[in-house]
Amino acid sequence: MRSLYADHVLERLQFMPEGTLQQRLLACMQAAIAEGIFPRATRLPATRDMARELSVSRNTVLNVYENLMSQGYVTARTGSGTWIAETLPEGCLNSPRSGDLNMPLVAKTAAISKRGASLLGHANASPYQWGAFVPGAPDVTQFPHKLFSQIQARLNREPDVDRLIYSSNGGCPHLRQALAEYLSVARSVHADADQIIITEGVHQAVDLVTRVLCDPGDPVWIEEPGYWGTRNLLRINGLKIQAMPVDEQGIRPEIASRSRAPKMIFVTPSHQYPLGVHLSLERRKQLLDLARKHKSWLVEDDYDSEFRFAGQPYPSLQGFETDAPVIYMGTFSKTLYPALRLGYLVVPKALAQPLRVAAAELYRGGHLLVQRALAEFIQKGHYMAHIRRMRKLYSQRRRFLVSLIERYLGQDFMPLVNHEAGLHLVMNLPVGCDDVAIAALALRRGVKVRPLSQYYMHPQERRGLLLGYACVDERQCQDAFGVLKACLIEAGILARPESRTVQI
Ligand SMILES: Cc1ncc(COP(=O)(O)O)c(C=O)c1O
Repeated sequence: MRSLYADHVLERLQFMPEGTLQQRLLACMQAAIAEGIFPRATRLPATRDMARELSVSRNTVLNVYENLMSQGYVTARTGSGTWIAETLPEGCLNSPRSGDLNMPLVAKTAAISKRGASLLGHANASPYQWGAFVPGAPDVTQFPHKLFSQIQARLNREPDVDRLIYSSNGGCPHLRQALAEYLSVARSVHADADQIIITEGVHQAVDLVTRVLCDPGDPVWIEEPGYWGTRNLLRINGLKIQAMPVDEQGIRPEIASRSRAPKMIFVTPSHQYPLGVHLSLERRKQLLDLARKHKSWLVEDDYDSEFRFAGQPYPSLQGFETDAPVIYMGTFSKTLYPALRLGYLVVPKALAQPLRVAAAELYRGGHLLVQRALAEFIQKGHYMAHIRRMRKLYSQRRRFLVSLIERYLGQDFMPLVNHEAGLHLVMNLPVGCDDVAIAALALRRGVKVRPLSQYYMHPQERRGLLLGYACVDERQCQDAFGVLKACLIEAGILARPESRTVQI
């Protein structure tokens, strides 16, 4: 007999026509949990049973459960399966109000637009981005909070009116000036302060440029594999996404003879996300030529280039040629801390005014006091000093993690691209294995890793796990690595050791 859970999902699926089966299934279950139809603190059917009852593959259900877990809708209890969370974390869909539960199903599903359902169906952000081995999380405890709050407190004593009203001119002028100087030296970015627009991070920058420079249906290119955060923003803005493969030289651009040229090409040239390669000289030229020929914009996401631990830093694509058709984006989420919600756009002169006006219309900027304090933090040299300190720390942590992989798992698991850079690495796994199930298993044991296959739009054979090391000290790294190794054994990827205890 089918469970009530499966019955409800099957009924609800009919009203979710958009997206892949997995996306629709995820959206159905998110809504059912948020609305209280699946009661809090009850147990979900086992993945095998749910897959059978819904007549879908177990992998599909595993992926959905793993997504629900990473978003905080469900939790795993060792030995007793997957349970609906007792309280939904902030950011989940709203909990039900009394009375709502009796609304007919159609009305409840109709409350979310197709666009909204598609966004929720692809939602992928973890509810708590901290701990071993969350990819891309900097060590936020290392930020000089005392020093920064002293700067803020002093500036706050007599705030100008200018810092208390909406920001309408691309953000705090002092910060834009400080960034123009810093980016010129550190990233070879050529721009005046008036070409810089302060944003609430790369996410907002992507949203702004796509809304202002593209129309729904316009073709855009992204890297395959690539950052799903960008992909989701492009999807919600109605763009036609084409994924271009990445090889050891970076993105491999190809215009099929009958397809339309892309309006925008989203790239991470200095440190490809997530693989870590950098865009070769030849490809840089090829991309710039292509963009000029087709009047496309190259959108450069320079999210973590400050963290290159050895060899030459790779200069930005923006500064590679004069008047390059490049929109450059950077963020303080990696160099300082994500909750600061500050980033920047550097745009060609012709775009500066329209994008400033659009940003003010769409978002009504603010946080000018923090921006002013950050300008001083940069100009007095504290920013570079912090980056230098973190570079050393992250480099040591990276080396430690790599040494554990090499020693306890062996060469076959070593990072696919072993460049000394960034806040995460991609640990190799056997081709075709189920990296999603391994990540779900590790999450149930409290270790957060991301499966490489999640970063691809199209199915492929390559498998791996993204491991973030920047916020993980050696003790935590060693413990979490031991758990991960046990998961690999349980998943049949590693041979079971003779003795019953798994040691590293
Ligand atoms: C490739 C990439 N770009 C940008 C960001 C940061 O975005 P934001 O500045 O909005 O925090 C991330 C965060 O993980 C990322 O992985």
